[in-house]
Parts: sequence; structure tokens; C-alpha cells
Amino acid sequence: MSRPEHRAPPELFYNEEEAGKYTSNSRMIDIQVQMSERAVELLALPQDEPCLLLDLGCGSGLSGSVLEDQGHTWIGMDISQAMLNVALEREVEGDLLLSDLGQGVPFRAGTFDGAISVSALQWLCNADKKSHNPIKRLYKFFSMLFASLTRTARAVLQFYPENSEQAELITAQAMKAGFFGGMVVDYPNSTRAKKFFLVLMTGTCIQLPQALGEESERTSVIYTHRREQLKKMRGKPLKKSRDWILEKKERRRKQGKETKPDSKYTGRKRSGRF
Ligand SMILES: C[S@@+](CC[C@H](N)C(=O)[O-])C[C@H]1O[C@@H](n2cnc3c(N)ncnc32)[C@H](O)[C@@H]1O
Repeated sequence: MSRPEHRAPPELFYNEEEAGKYTSNSRMIDIQVQMSERAVELLALPQDEPCLLLDLGCGSGLSGSVLEDQGHTWIGMDISQAMLNVALEREVEGDLLLSDLGQGVPFRAGTFDGAISVSALQWLCNADKKSHNPIKRLYKFFSMLFASLTRTARAVLQFYPENSEQAELITAQAMKAGFFGGMVVDYPNSTRAKKFFLVLMTGTCIQLPQALGEESERTSVIYTHRREQLKKMRGKPLKKSRDWILEKKERRRKQGKETKPDSKYTGRKRSGRF
């Protein structure tokens, strides 16, 4: 079956019928609630402090309800009037804004302590109108989101990338807009349970949280600004060069690990015969 975002623009796809179906499907509710809880966990908010949070593509308020259950105040943005109507019927506590994320996040600088988005971001990769340029829309979205957050905030966006190129495109626009961070992939080896969380930070790049599931240490990809990467690389020998290998061997010796002595062959490329 084709992906929802290929069938119609979001404001038409999520019409009254779809909004009703979506919010009364108990399996759907469970999944959205679980992913929202994980997104809040990845936000790493200060313990027992109520925060002001943004829910991007809040829909009928399933993700927002998780925020209020955890004692936070939230504002939700969504492009579908029908979804927001269901949120109103459900009497969610958050304030709701009918708005297109591709046109940015219209709040004063430094307003929010954090932001989550659950199952909405992939929609921004579609060009539903002639005037839509997904790259420009993603950049506008991320740069205005960056501005609306405090300098110690995180944004955690769960989404369904269509392929790795799309995940990279989204991440690249977020980094260009000023964020640090990267992708956390939970349960990478399960087709059903695998979930992508883009974890973005406004301050400095802190190590990404551990992903859930097997082999999790290999499933967090850190992206940093190019400037930051160059800064880090300055003064360090090039990877796999002779100096790099010598430094690595020296570190191993200091750690008391068995290490081959250095020789004139250390770091030399092997000839093609091997
Ligand atoms: C799968 S629903 C998720 C809703 C909610 N986050 C949840 O967890 O239940 C995706 C939502 O993203 C919204 N959306 C898609 N594209 C959007 C855009 N460009 N601007 C704002 N909202 C958008 C849709 O209207 C829809 O309500």
C-alpha cells in the first residue's frame, strides 16, 4: 500500500473521516502513545520541572496528551482542521494552532523548553503544490524551530523515512539550521518495531542517547556542524595515517594492552598482492 503522504496533501488526507478513524483505533493510539513517551524520554528534560513544550504535527492530540500526563504545558501545531477538531472534542489541555510546518514555527525566540513531533515530519518531504520546494520548506521549518527553543533545549522528532536518502536530507537541513545531534534508531533489527528518532540539540553536542534494542551501540549516528568537525579535526592526525596509528599504539601501551613494537613499516600501505 502506498504511503499516506503520497496519496493526498495532509490537510486533505486527514479529513473528518480519517481523523475520526485515526483517533478511535486502539492499536494506533497505543503505538502513538508509546512513541510519544519515548520522544519525551529522549528530550531529557529536568526532573520534576514542568516545561513549556511544542508538539509539531500534533493531530488529534494523542502525543500532546502524553505531555500533559507528565505535567507539562504544550502548544500544538497542525495543518489539518479535522484533526484539530478531534483534539478539541477530546478536550486536550494544549493550545492548538492551525498551521503549516513548512512555513515555519511562528513563536518568539527562546520560547520553548523542548519540542516533540510524532509521525509528521515525513510529510514535509512532499511537494503538494507547485510552489513547494521540500528542501526549502525543511530548512525554514528547522531554522524557525531552532530560534523558538531555549539554548539548552532539545527537539525529538519521530518519523518514517521513506529511504536513507530522505533521512539524510532531513538531518542535513536540521544541521544547516544550527542544530547538533543525530538519529537514534530503536530496535534496528526488527521490521515492525524499528523506529527513527531525530534527536536535535540547540546548545553543544552532547553524546546521543542509547538506542533501544539489540546492537544499540551502533545505531546512533551523530552529525555535527561541519565547522565543529573541522575544529575537532584540527591538530589531529589523519585517520589511518602513520601518525594516527602511532598515537593509537601509544594509547594502547598506556592502557597496558599488548601492542606490537613500532617499525619502519608501521602505517605503510600493503601492496595489492595481499
Ligand atoms: C500520523 S498524524 C500524527 C498526529 C500526532 N502527532 C499523533 O501522534 O497522534 C500526522 C499529523 O501530521 C500533520 N501534518 C502533516 N503535514 C503537516 C504540515 N505540513 N504542517 C502541520 N502538520 C502537518 C497531519 O495533519 C497529521 O495530523
